[in-house]
Amino acid sequence: MLSDKLVDAINDQIQFEYHSAFIYKSMQAFFETQDLPGMANWMNIQFQEEMSHAEKMFDFICETGNQVVLQGMDNPHRDYTSPLEAFEVALEHEQIVTSRINALMDLAQQEKSHAAQIFLQWFVTEQVEEEATANHIIAKLKRVEGDGRGLIMIDQELAQRTFVPIAADN
Ligand code: FEO
Repeated sequence: MLSDKLVDAINDQIQFEYHSAFIYKSMQAFFETQDLPGMANWMNIQFQEEMSHAEKMFDFICETGNQVVLQGMDNPHRDYTSPLEAFEVALEHEQIVTSRINALMDLAQQEKSHAAQIFLQWFVTEQVEEEATANHIIAKLKRVEGDGRGLIMIDQELAQRTFVPIAADN
């Protein structure tokens, strides 16, 4: 059902999603050291989201009768000069994810795989939300730069984030 080229490309993206999870878990560790528990929570939820993205692709590869191939990962970055820098790095990372998902969709179209195109549509939509969320937080952080009380308020807001599993019919 899937060409070897498509299986390899989705396998690469599975690896990238797990690596994304690793990056956000490392950002959580950074925020834990900064006494910003809300931002640490936000990064931990992001970690869980990335794990669920990887798992969704993992299941798709298995369901189509193919094998997932996992590889080692590079060490994630661990130090940031400010909360703003960490979220800017997160946004840059999501922009890379978006371009990778778009390239996967292009490949699925070239390979005429309707199943892969329908499957990837969920990720195309998800990336719009991922970038918008990061942009929104960056805008707020820029507004309060240097204002400790403002930072605490953003931290309290980000503490409210909870993990919502991907619906089974998605
Ligand atoms: Fe799995 Fe944040 O993209």
